[in-house]
Amino acid sequence: MNESSTPGHFHVETDADGIVWLTFDKAGTSTNTFSVDALEQLDSHLQQIADQKPRGLVIRSAKANGFIAGADISTLAGIASEQEAAGLLKLGQAVFNRIEDMPFPTVALIHGFCLGGGMELALACSYRVTRDDPGTRLGLPEVRLGVHPGWGGSARMVPLIGAIKAMDLILSGRTVDGRSGRRMGLVELVVPERHLAAAARKLVMDAPPPYRAGLLDRLSNHALVRPLLARVLRKQVAKRASKLHYPAPYAMIDLWQKHANDKQAMLRGEVESFAKLAHGVTARNLMRVYFLQEQLKSLGKDKSYQPKFVHVIGAGTMGGDIAAWCALRGFQVSLQDQAPERIAPALARAHKLFRRKLKKPVKVREAMDRLLPDHKGMGVKRADIVIEAIFEDAEVKRSLYKDIEPRMKAGALLATNTSSIPLEELAPALTHPERLVGLHFFNPVAKMMLVEIVNGTSTSAEVSAKAMAFTRKIDRLPLPVTSTPGFLVNRILMPYLMEAVVLEAEGVPPALIDKAATSFGMPMGPVELADTVGLDICLHVAEVLADHFDAEIPENLRQLVASGKLGKKSGQGFYQWKKGKALKQKPGGSNWNMDEITNRLVLRLLNESVSCLREHVVAEKDLLDAGMIFGTGFAPFRGGPVHYIESIGIDVQQKKLEELQKLRGKRFTPDPGWNELKGGT
Ligand code: NAI
Repeated sequence: MNESSTPGHFHVETDADGIVWLTFDKAGTSTNTFSVDALEQLDSHLQQIADQKPRGLVIRSAKANGFIAGADISTLAGIASEQEAAGLLKLGQAVFNRIEDMPFPTVALIHGFCLGGGMELALACSYRVTRDDPGTRLGLPEVRLGVHPGWGGSARMVPLIGAIKAMDLILSGRTVDGRSGRRMGLVELVVPERHLAAAARKLVMDAPPPYRAGLLDRLSNHALVRPLLARVLRKQVAKRASKLHYPAPYAMIDLWQKHANDKQAMLRGEVESFAKLAHGVTARNLMRVYFLQEQLKSLGKDKSYQPKFVHVIGAGTMGGDIAAWCALRGFQVSLQDQAPERIAPALARAHKLFRRKLKKPVKVREAMDRLLPDHKGMGVKRADIVIEAIFEDAEVKRSLYKDIEPRMKAGALLATNTSSIPLEELAPALTHPERLVGLHFFNPVAKMMLVEIVNGTSTSAEVSAKAMAFTRKIDRLPLPVTSTPGFLVNRILMPYLMEAVVLEAEGVPPALIDKAATSFGMPMGPVELADTVGLDICLHVAEVLADHFDAEIPENLRQLVASGKLGKKSGQGFYQWKKGKALKQKPGGSNWNMDEITNRLVLRLLNESVSCLREHVVAEKDLLDAGMIFGTGFAPFRGGPVHYIESIGIDVQQKKLEELQKLRGKRFTPDPGWNELKGGT
């Protein structure tokens, strides 16, 4: 094999069969992404390869984590104008067109991530070969960043596999593994790692006719079918996202409807539409959310901490699910409760979770083997981290700590999942109070990405860093907060939920209150959320907060809880619940002022956010925004509460609060933090 390696992001080799192997190995990073210089280098390699007239070209990646993750998001986020965006798009399209026009077979050899620009490159090749494992993911997830494919992804995928399958992938942003990709027609061969190179070589040597969509798939792009299908697609998208807040999927449908039969027009359309979207507020904020997520991830980067054994005490709603999640992520877990029969339901739930996530029976069995029922607490002594999730009672927790600490390994962490007890009330029970940290998970554990890392006054910095590293190891996002009542997320959420309860008491139909919030961009309205969390839990957190912040608790909430109407779990709360769904009456012909309802809900949330900033519950504004987006789903396209305040105007929002204070009373009094925010602190 002749080797000629080029400095930069690519290596080129030509083998004895005359096949060129072009390996992407982006300098200075563990993930391949396309920046302008990477695209330019690729282009010049391709020109040289074309001149060389080889037998074929195989494009692959040297990175362990995957093929190509897409465009470099910092490059996208740094775009200053529509013209600049169009320039970047045309460059990418020209490079990928060059691949498509090669007069010899081209193969994308894929393992791990093949997303966005990576998928677009692969689509420009004659064939795609992928590694056979669930970690290999193919997709065009651009809509998640508020844009759509712009380097030919839609222009090539739609004719290749038909509109129904292609638009499903593009509009949802979901990814598929190699096997699903092959069923769809996206991939020619799916093989184990050791056969990857041989499979690519065989495709070049045999040069079979590339995949062609079947008749039905071709028909889905027919001019007569498109208007109809476009209407169905718009309806489906509208169920998930409004056009006003998330314009990208709608722009994609328009493009396809107009140009699906003309590839060149589709390519030009991608550029024009993407450039507009990339410069818009939604895309800017969704890219911001991406960076916030990266920021949280980076907090848990301590690679030196390698825990193996986790012991969870309390097999109820939270402890049971935390234990299952840790076992799913590869930890050896023991689960303790007062009696074996209390642990059994948690094991049954874990089995369901494993089946859903792991699918293969052997993997499910391995995960079950990692999760040991342990009502005697034998696992305490081997655990690197003990997670306590027992009743929310300080005395009971303290007495448990006294019992287990003497049996814990030196240096092992003790993490509490308490949602309201300050760590300062718990730490005195310990000989080593510095080992106590809060790991505040949210319900449901398998869905909620955020974990608040609660730092008490005695928590050591080392323990806090280990808790964050552990959180990353179980694929969750750590957010460091102070041990103050309600920590961050519940404290900010509660005034918003309580305002919804007040509105309901005033006679506003719950469905209307929820609509005001979802129209603002919340994933679920506050009344439905309160019912889902459980009204008893809401009341408890509200009481804890009311003790500290002189807040009032609406009487209707107390009454519902007293009469056993606890929400979803009891079948009746503010809503009646059937088969896990709230029965919502259509609020017809009302005279309620929707703007005022939205303002009342949102401004209480914003006011509490400002209060948390002033009290330094989190270290900085971006962390607060990240916490609310990943902990509650706060309208991501608005970039987080503080970012939203600043983008609308601090003065404007503060004035609205003052007006509400006059009309509705002291709960709308602007926090002193508004003035600090104006001063830029
Ligand atoms: P739960 O009532 O469902 O479960 C508590 C479990 O702890 C019960 O199975 C009980 O038998 C067991 N337990 C009590 N004392 C024990 C002891 N001394 N030794 C061993 N096991 C004992 O409670 P849930 O909802 O799971 O809450 C647990 C903790 O998580 C609480 O601190 C709560 O504040 C917190 N939390 C709850 C959330 C929720 O949405 N339910 C959300 C976030 C935190």
